[in-house]
Amino acid sequence: MKTKTVFFCTECGNETPKWMGQCTACGSWNTVVEQPSYAKPRAGAPASNRMQKNSPRELSKLDASSEMRFMTGFKELDRVLGGGAVIGSLVLVGGSPGIGKSTLLLQICGLIDASIKVLYVSGEESERQIKMRAERLGVKGGGVFVLAETEITEILTVLEELKPDVLIIDSIQTLYNPELASSPGSVGQVKDCTMSLLQFSKSSGVTVFLVGHVNKEGAIAGPKVLEHMVDCVLYFEGERSLNYRILRAAKNRYGSTNEIGVFEMLDNGLSEVMNPSEMLLAGRPSNTPGTCVTCVIEGTRPILAEIQALVTPSSANMPRRNSNGVEYNRAMMLLAVLQQRGGLRVGGCDAYINVIGGLNIDDPGADLATILALASAYRDKPIRGEVAVFGEVGLTGELRQVSQINPRLAEISRMGFTACILPHSGKSKLQAPKGLDLIFVKTISEAIRIAVDNITVSKEH
Ligand code: TYD
Ligand code: MG
Repeated sequence: MKTKTVFFCTECGNETPKWMGQCTACGSWNTVVEQPSYAKPRAGAPASNRMQKNSPRELSKLDASSEMRFMTGFKELDRVLGGGAVIGSLVLVGGSPGIGKSTLLLQICGLIDASIKVLYVSGEESERQIKMRAERLGVKGGGVFVLAETEITEILTVLEELKPDVLIIDSIQTLYNPELASSPGSVGQVKDCTMSLLQFSKSSGVTVFLVGHVNKEGAIAGPKVLEHMVDCVLYFEGERSLNYRILRAAKNRYGSTNEIGVFEMLDNGLSEVMNPSEMLLAGRPSNTPGTCVTCVIEGTRPILAEIQALVTPSSANMPRRNSNGVEYNRAMMLLAVLQQRGGLRVGGCDAYINVIGGLNIDDPGADLATILALASAYRDKPIRGEVAVFGEVGLTGELRQVSQINPRLAEISRMGFTACILPHSGKSKLQAPKGLDLIFVKTISEAIRIAVDNITVSKEH
């Protein structure tokens, strides 16, 4: 039986009799999508696929015990999820093609407790390909079932029979509902299939991991249609040419979104990086101008990062500016502060900023390192290798206190640095680690004099 489908605008909710490029109600383009009308439950549809009647309950009588979780076997992933995966939750793992999403999820199949039944549904690879990959990754696969299928109704039937605890869908863009006219990967299909899985997951308690390819515009399946439907959105990021991969939570109903997990892609799959600072600083050039080490807080963890800069006289009317890893507008602001308050004539120069290892920094504590890397590049004088810095830079060129000073200092000291330049204003709350010289500064000019021009000042402990 063919179900009636409706077309509606995702912007304003206006229903239209057929698909159209522009919504007649609000005028938005490409927002009209198709969806089956679920007004009446379909006869013969899986019970979980039908809308369930729910009655309101008093808040005070609800069970407040914390949600039940299980460990995936990857500590880095468990931390990003907020301490393991919540049973019955829907987790979207997004990332560009080839970044390692399938590898991550297939490895989980091998690491997860054998008592947990897993169904791995792949619409991208055949069973043979999955088996070959699993062998390469050393995944034995007891308690793991594999299904190469793309039709959502077939998948739901298998789910009813197999009753797995964990379902992995690789990828949501390959699934389709034959009752919709649109092709797999379209907004309507992706939304509809996710909705069916959501209903199944919430009624049966199965934990679902959905793979979603991020397309060129940076959105999953076109407009970020799934983010509001799922419980957690994780992004797997990194340079394809580099081996590091960073897992970041963009949304988490069961935990913080600040945590990151760091992995390394090796020949036999992903390996967790327990000590990201060491990885990010590996291969750091010594005695070279234009590099500075800082400590940023990623979630609950302090991580050391190397910021590099290159400043060259510009031959163009408009100097070229580029920033990787430091947000572009922030980088432009720091260049302006350096010119105006630090007295370095960088205005007529091309300037390039890069954070090593594909890390994206949004911690203002990295400002001072960006300023010093630029100043060091401009003056062509290296910063001493044993110096790390942190501090926020204000528009007047003043250095401002940042959060979590003590964990930052501890990490800097642990990684073998012997001197740290930091804002004067945070001085009172410090616990200085042994063997780390603390150099307090009030302005960027002072910091440049000490770090780049090597003019020594009396140290304070
Ligand atoms: P994959 O998990 O297929 O990416 P996605 O599912 O996100 O599209 O990862 C593919 C890339 O990872 C591919 O370029 C090869 C590389 N890779 C390794 O380096 N080592 C391995 O053990 C595996 C399985 C893949
Ligand atoms: Mg894949």
